Amino acid sequence: MQGPVAIILAAGHGKRMRSEKAKVLHEVCGQPMIRYVVDAARGAGAKSVIVVVGFGADQVRDALAGEPDVHFAVQARQLGTGDAVKATRPLLEGYQGPAWVLVGDEPLIRPEPLADLLARQEAEHIACLLGTALVPDPTGFGRIVRDSAGRFQRIIEQRDCTPEQAAIAEVNPSCYVFELPGLWDALDRLDTGNAQGEYYLTDAPALLQTSRRKVVALSVLEPDDILGVNTRQHLAQANAIMQSRVVDRLMTEGVSIVDPHNTYIDARAEIGHDTIIYPFSVLHGVVKVGKGCRIGPFAHLRDGTVLDDGAEVGAFVETSRAHLETGAMARHLAYLGDAHLGANVNVGAGAVTANFDGKTKGRTEIGAGAFIGSGSVLIAPVTVGAGATVGAGAVVPKGHDIADGQTVVGVPARPLEVRPGGSLPADRPPRFPSLGPGA
Ligand code: UD1
Ligand code: CA
Repeated sequence: MQGPVAIILAAGHGKRMRSEKAKVLHEVCGQPMIRYVVDAARGAGAKSVIVVVGFGADQVRDALAGEPDVHFAVQARQLGTGDAVKATRPLLEGYQGPAWVLVGDEPLIRPEPLADLLARQEAEHIACLLGTALVPDPTGFGRIVRDSAGRFQRIIEQRDCTPEQAAIAEVNPSCYVFELPGLWDALDRLDTGNAQGEYYLTDAPALLQTSRRKVVALSVLEPDDILGVNTRQHLAQANAIMQSRVVDRLMTEGVSIVDPHNTYIDARAEIGHDTIIYPFSVLHGVVKVGKGCRIGPFAHLRDGTVLDDGAEVGAFVETSRAHLETGAMARHLAYLGDAHLGANVNVGAGAVTANFDGKTKGRTEIGAGAFIGSGSVLIAPVTVGAGATVGAGAVVPKGHDIADGQTVVGVPARPLEVRPGGSLPADRPPRFPSLGPGA
């Protein structure tokens, strides 16, 4: 196993989520929480990541499948966080060097403090370096107990705290760097003499210290970094904080977000500068937006949407696996799914690409400069040629491709015949039959 290694604990059920899904797979800004922890470890320099799985193991493996640096260790029974780390031992046999131990339910952890901790651990050959945080409300966390000289003594779990210990504001966010193989001896000495009858990883630092190994606790984490998700309420808080980080980054990169509190942007979204996003818009999934685009208000850009520079998706428009080239626009009330719109295509209000016939999905190709009239329906698979016009209210049947420059109207759509001189054919019924001549 190539180091530095990150061990991420993710075997617990998360009972308080009241879910059939493993806790670490609940989503924050569009991605499972564990994804952020894996990415933070990588960002800090981890070369190998070991995820400890147990409850919902297959779901967690699936969510992280196909990533060569990610390995899995199975903890068969959830006997505590110390036991969970032990489950990684067979994978780490022979490994000498540092290992972060992190938890999968703290999605807001950032790479910078993890990298700082590693640098310090390596420089000072520390057997266990704990990242801690000072928080306004320590409820739920293990507390850091220090001696009168300020040296680390032990972690004490909330359930095992005296009232004086419960008042300690410095907490254990489960963000450790341990030197291996030294950790294994400490884990072998853990016992279950605590309120939960579990093997607590939190006892390992004090055990290392009693065997005269160097243990240091450093308050390097911010309260936001360590928000642990144990309930749906915590999940909503984590989403809000992550969302503010995402919009802050985008605004720094030159994107205008008119009302950041009422705009929901997936952490994976890429958006070019001078794009402006109006309120109540949702970008979910992998969405790529170029420069100078306009989005919303009330737009819903779903997975696989690509907007090239200067494209516009306006009010009550939903896109899914849709690519709008430069200058293409759908300004109001449209659905564009499995569709490719060439440059400067104009989609009118209420136009729909009917991409699903109840069994399979079909694609719609619209050539550059085409005009798709209001209220029209393009039944996929179908191609509309460059510069073509689909009249308002037309229904273009499946496979009835429209040639470049052609105009079609009606239901089902047929070519519009225009007599030389511009008048409509004589056999066409009057436009307003109820109104007599001269009305
Ligand atoms: C743990 C810490 C506590 C710390 C808090 C927040 C212990 C004993 N306590 O408490 O000091 O303040 O996290 O970081 O470590 N897990 C397993 N296998 C198990 C048990 C847990 O993989 O047998 C995983 C869970 O999936 C979770 C993580 O370990 O991702 C932490 O477990 P959890 O039960 O949430 O611990 P806390 O009670 O929050
Ligand atoms: Ca927790």
